[in-house]
Amino acid sequence: MDFGHPQTLVENQNHADTCRTVCHCLNVTEHEIRAAIDEHDPQSIRGVSQVCGAGAGCMSCHRHIRRMLNERVLYRRSQLVGDADNAETPCS
Ligand code: FES
Repeated sequence: MDFGHPQTLVENQNHADTCRTVCHCLNVTEHEIRAAIDEHDPQSIRGVSQVCGAGAGCMSCHRHIRRMLNERVLYRRSQLVGDADNAETPCS
């Protein structure tokens, strides 16, 4: 049985992950939520709801949306640390 190239399997899994529906009430995928967070920089679940609708129903998806918001904050902080590490230090 051929399971395909391992890299292809990983890419397919990543694609499947981002295409999965996170908010079933409003039928919003993980990809759509991440795109909304990237583009509009909402600071809360309510902000995400206002941008893409996710989370405006039964609230069972809120923990997933919160995780994506937290991941975005951590990513931005890592970018700031990376920028600071790469900044030139003044000569003494
Ligand atoms: S699943 Fe997102 S509000 Fe119900």
